[in-house]
Formats: sequence, structure tokens, C-alpha cells
Amino acid sequence: MRNKVKYEEIISKMTIEEKAAFLGGKGEWQTRGFERLGIPSIFCSDGPHGLRKQAGAGDHLGLNASLPATCFPSAATIAGSWDEELGEQLGKCLGEEALVQDVNILLGPGLNIKRSPLCGRNFEYFSEDPYLAGKMAASYVRGIQSNGVYACPKHFAVNSQELRRMAMNSVVDERTLREIYLTGFEIAVKEGGAKTIMSAYNEVNGVYANENRHLLDDILRKEWGFDGIVITDWGAGNDHALGVAAGSNLEMPNPGLDSARELVEAVQDGRLSIEDVDRRVDELLDVVMTLYVNAQNKPDKFDEKAHHSMARRAAAESAILLKNEEEILPLKSGAKVAIIGDFAFTPRYQGAGSSLVNPTKVESVAELASGYDLQMVGMSRGYLRSGEEDPVIKKEALDLASRADIVLFFFGLNEDSESEGTDRTHMRIPQNQITLLQELGQVNANLVGIISAGSAIEMPWHHYFKALLHCYLNGQAGAGAVLDLLTGAVNPSGKLAESVPRRLEDTPAYRYYPSVERNSEYRESLYVGYRYYDTAGVPVLYPFGHGLSYTTFKYSEITSDEDGISFTITNTGARDGAEVAQMYVSLPDAKVFRPEKELKGFAKVFLKAGESRTVRISFDDKTFRYFNVKTGRWEIEDGDYTVSVGSSSSRILLSTGVHRTGTTDDYPYDRNDLPSYYSAKVENIGDGEFEKLLGKPIPVGKWSGELTRNDALCQMYYAKSSVARLIFRILDKKKKESEAKGVPDLNTLFIYNMPFRAIAKMSAGMVSRQMVDGMVRMVNGHFFGGLGTIIGGYFRNRRDNKQYEARLQGKKNA
Ligand code: BGC
Repeated sequence: MRNKVKYEEIISKMTIEEKAAFLGGKGEWQTRGFERLGIPSIFCSDGPHGLRKQAGAGDHLGLNASLPATCFPSAATIAGSWDEELGEQLGKCLGEEALVQDVNILLGPGLNIKRSPLCGRNFEYFSEDPYLAGKMAASYVRGIQSNGVYACPKHFAVNSQELRRMAMNSVVDERTLREIYLTGFEIAVKEGGAKTIMSAYNEVNGVYANENRHLLDDILRKEWGFDGIVITDWGAGNDHALGVAAGSNLEMPNPGLDSARELVEAVQDGRLSIEDVDRRVDELLDVVMTLYVNAQNKPDKFDEKAHHSMARRAAAESAILLKNEEEILPLKSGAKVAIIGDFAFTPRYQGAGSSLVNPTKVESVAELASGYDLQMVGMSRGYLRSGEEDPVIKKEALDLASRADIVLFFFGLNEDSESEGTDRTHMRIPQNQITLLQELGQVNANLVGIISAGSAIEMPWHHYFKALLHCYLNGQAGAGAVLDLLTGAVNPSGKLAESVPRRLEDTPAYRYYPSVERNSEYRESLYVGYRYYDTAGVPVLYPFGHGLSYTTFKYSEITSDEDGISFTITNTGARDGAEVAQMYVSLPDAKVFRPEKELKGFAKVFLKAGESRTVRISFDDKTFRYFNVKTGRWEIEDGDYTVSVGSSSSRILLSTGVHRTGTTDDYPYDRNDLPSYYSAKVENIGDGEFEKLLGKPIPVGKWSGELTRNDALCQMYYAKSSVARLIFRILDKKKKESEAKGVPDLNTLFIYNMPFRAIAKMSAGMVSRQMVDGMVRMVNGHFFGGLGTIIGGYFRNRRDNKQYEARLQGKKNA
């Protein structure tokens, strides 16, 4: 946190109108520049796995094509590499492309926790585990920022649900908030040195993330020492004055001068102090001035070929070999194969939404396969992406399969199943793919499956396959990586960064996700992913951290000291390869309830065939800590900890003991109050127990009859006004039509889920808060009163905007 004002000279020359206008964006992606003061404008762009700079008019969900950029594998994919060095190199490439395209802030990486496999944006996030997510995010941040471009980790915080993401309240106890939902951001800030951060759309415990003093000031700035700027997610601003007071700097994208007036009025009537405004202006000036200087003498192009190769390497190092019976993989040279599946022709290599990249090129397996030493029986699309049955291509696929020794089946989630703005309702892949698979299994026993999906899916069909390679969404160069892996040119080394449950009903938040009305209640608490499965004894199909190799590794000789553990890994197979060793920490018989084990360190080790190496994993400030809600501090519970090393969360190979002296006797919980949390049976937590955990009553999350400016447009379903209900039906029809087409319509989804207030915040000043209030009155059945407010508001807004604009131009009497 910065205590001293750095840009006093400029600030002293700024009028209150200039300061207020500076704290809001202009246009879809820029900050406001002021020539008179020598303040330049800087440019922000998505995204986390490739740059999305729009060439023409900007629209934040990407209807207008963006300039070509390298589409790297998405965060969910790269997390599978468990390789911070790789993350840093990718970050470097991303930052370089940003610099070349005159982008100063890259809006990523995304690191929300995969609370449920259903979240539509899981493909953009790293993991269900905060330590892994944080380490990977920090590596991206270091890489991006090494170019003089700033990264913007997002979405801070507890934004693990897409449904009504702008009108939703995440209700979470303080310990879970700290240990699960904030730890990753803490690592990205402290170890990555992130200079900007994006506040989330949702409320956290009843206060919008962007206005949340606890998040932005107590934790981010004071505890973590963050000295950069907080940028709202696009349209996330609510009460800008509250945001600025809490620590938020820049309201994006284009809130217009109504928002600036809101700040000026708040200062005038004493709700917001001028010191707070100056502090936010100073922080923003620091970023703007630094980035402007950094962007001078920038390169004017990047090496497209080198970045494509980097994308291919990253895809190869991140794919996960889930199973490999009878060593069917790698394919022997000259193997007689059939390539089946639409994904081999038209790869699904990225997700949908604000992260959508216009790739410099895209390769497919069908195009590249002839370059490999394989005897090709033939290739067939086999099924339709639309989900419909097509007997002709199915027959073609079955004929090929019956003539091949091995079938390579490319399949997975379609484009419309995972997207920003919507959550999945189930974890299945399309039925027509499963039907084809079953029939392929009748004609050929040697099936190898290659999955493309950005998040965990149910795999009740996995026994049909002798081998399964999970490629996630592996970017524009993914096809070459897949073929390298199948043929053994590259040895798989990825490990799951999320558990693959047997079925949706087994997931810990099954009953709580997504929220029914306003409250998204995090009743499962700390028990996310493997923390739940391993503690509650719920079997999964593939555990967190799992991933096979074409070679084998032996773990031996663990020792521990005050600062860490050491052990030996030997590559006992015939091929060179890499292993991700994972360090888990447990405290048997803990007084404070906790998961059976938690990831606290990992190391990716490359070993030649036969090679042995001593691996060291150091302890850090997170190894033994827990957040004590009674003392309000991170504490260590006194006890004999078990520190284990494994090749997955359920394959623990070595263990040792470490004693830690406790930091307090003031323990937070009474076991009798929280029996379900002590037993990890958190699937069905009642109100009483959740309230005990929260330490306060559950806030009322029911929608009331009257709609407010913070309710989502889709809630017009309940509106009193028949016109509003009609608008809802039109919107709903549009949404359903796009779903039927199989391509998510992001703008409709955005509008569907957005609250009324965002109409003002995203209209570049054309609509004011007063006009929004008029709209809400109309929706609530007061047609004429509402209309009057809108008309009055329109003229007032026009006049006030003109006057404000004039004052910005230096006309004093305006
Ligand atoms: C997304 C952000 C993105 C922003 C700008 C929002 O809808 O949540 O992740 O950076 O749009 O496109």
C-alpha cells in the first residue's frame, strides 16, 4: 500500500470534475486522457489465453472480430502442466503481443475457484485448489508484466457462478473466504506482483465486491500490500462513490459522466472524502504514467511462428493421460489407425465469451495426421456437432473402425456447453457421441479417446477406452501436440488440476449450486474438490493431481527439516519423462476442522530414463496456516503434522512427520455446533449449522415482489407490468433460439443476466441513474410515473452531461 501521494503536482492542478471523470473509463477499453494535464489514455484488452483487441468498434463480448493473435491453451489446460516456468513463458508471449498491439493492461489471468464443475467459465480458471491456481496465476502475471504491460488477475472475488453473475450475493464464511477463495489472489499479488486487479460483479456477504472495504482495503491493500489499481469488471460498478471510498479506482467500461457526477455529488455532500478521491487518482496516475512510458519504443511485430510453437509446446505439456491399458499408447510406428470424430476436423480449442481469440491460424488433426508414421485406414467425422443423429457418417465411421487396428476417437463438449454468462446444467457430453462410441466399441476393442472439454465431465463410458487423453481446450496449435503425444514424440506429463467426479450428484455443492435466487450460499465451506472427496470418503473417477506417463517413477527416501522436505524420484522406465510430485499436509485429530489433506507445494521434475534426483519442496507461510475467525488472524494449530508426497491426491507415496508449535489456544469452533463440518458430510447443511459457521444470520436472498435497479433483467418474468413481462419473453426466446443453434449468443446472455443499473453504467452516459429508476418504476407497474421519470431524466442527463463536458473543456461558468 502506498502512503505518500506521488503525483501531487498534477493532482493539485486537477478540478474535482477532472478527478471524477478520470476514475471512469471512456469507450469500451480506454481510460480517459487529459491533454491539459499531460495525462495520456491507456488501453485494456482481454484476455487470459490470447489477446482480444478489437479492430473496429469495441463491444465487450466480442461481436466485432479482434486482431489476429496467438490462441494459447486456456488456463484450465495450462493448469494441467503444473509448471510455473511454462506459465511465465506463456505470460511473456501474451505480454509481448499486447505491447505490439498497443495494449497496456491485459485483462487476465482468471483464477476463480472451480467450486462446481458446472460453472460456465471453468475453462478460463485454473483449479479447484487455491494454491495451484495462485502459483499458476502468479507465473502468468510475472511473464506478462516483464514486458512492461500490466496483468489484471480476475475476478476478485468469490465469482464462481455465471448465472445472474451481476445480481448475485456470495454468502461465505470468513475462513472459507480466506483459505479457499482469496489465497490464490494473495499469491498472484504477493508473488506475481500484480499491479492491477479486477473486482467481480457479485456481492460478497451482501456488499458488492467493488465496494467491499473488507476485500479491497483491509485485505488487498493493507494485508497484502497491493499498491496498484482496482478495475471494475465490465459493468460491475454500482455506487461509484462507495467503490472509490473502499479502494476501487477505475469504473469500466464506459459509465459516462453520470457516474462522474455521482462522485462529485458524494464529495459535496460529505459521503466521500476528497482525500479518498485523491488517493485513487494518485494510484491510477501512477499506473497510467508508468504504462505510457513502458509502451514507448515498443516492437512493431511479434514472431508468429515462435508463438505458435510455444502454444504447441504448452498444449503438449499440459494434456493429461487419464488411462493407458495394455500400453496401447504411444502408437507403434506404422500403426493401422482410423481417425474418427468431428473434433479431429474442426477442433474445439478455446471457450466462448470475452476470452475469444481470433487465432493467427488453427491446425486440425485431420490436416496434420499424414505427417506422422501411421498407416491411415481413413477419417470420418462420425457424429454431428449439433447433437443430431446422422446415420450416413455414423456408418462411415463404423466401417473404418472395423478395418483399423486402433481407433482414435476425438470427442467432447460442444461450443454451446461452456461459455461465459451461463452455467452448465449437467456434466454430460452429447448423447450422439456416446451412442457412436458404444457402437464403435462393438466393432473394435482398441479405442483411444481424445477429449476436448474445458471442464470436468461425467465419463460413465470411460471403460470403452483402453486409453484416454484429456486435452482440455488446447489452443490453435493443439492438434500437433495431440499427435506428438499419441505417437510418443512427447511423453505426457500433465496432471489434473481438478477432480473428475463419478457423477454430478457426488459434487459437494450439488444442492447449493447455482443459487436459486439472490444468495449463492457456500454451505460446503472448505470442502471444495478433493478436499471434500478425500475427507468425506466419496470415490471419484480420476482424482485431483492424477496423470500418467509413458514411463514410470519411483519415490523414495523422504526427510524433513524445519523448512521443507526432500525426497528422491527415479525414472524407472525406458523413456525420458516428467513427473509432478505433490506435497500434501494433514493434521490428524485436529481441533479445528480441516480437510484430510491440502496441497501445499509441488515440483515438476524432468528426468532422463534411469535418472534419479533429490527433490526439495520448501515450506512457506501457507504450509501450516489456517484462518482463525475468533482471533481474526492466520494461526497455526499446535500439533504433529503429516507431510506427504504423492503422484496424485489419492496416490500418496511417502510421508513424514513435522511438529509445529501453535500460535494460540483461542480456538474458533465448538465441535458440537458444527458436526457436519467436522465429519465433512457437507452435502446437506441446514440453516442453523450454516449460520453457526457464518457467525451471523443468513441474509435474506429471496426475490421480493418489487424489482429494484439491482435485480437482473431476467427477473422481469415476475414483473407487474405486462410490457416488462413481454420484454422478458422476447429475451428468453432469443436466448432459447441461440441455445438451439448450438452457439451461445453472448450479448443476449449478458443482457439476460444483467441488472437494470448496468443499463446506465454501460451506455456511455446516454442513460442516467434517474432514467434507470424510471424504467424500474415502469417494470413495477407504475407506467406513467416511470415514463415521466425517464423523460425528465433524459433531458436532465443531456443538460448535465453538456455542462460537465464544458467544465472538462475548461469553461468555468458552464
Ligand atoms: C468479463 C471479464 C472481461 C470483461 C471485458 C466481462 O464480462 O467478466 O472477464 O475481462 O468482460 O471483456
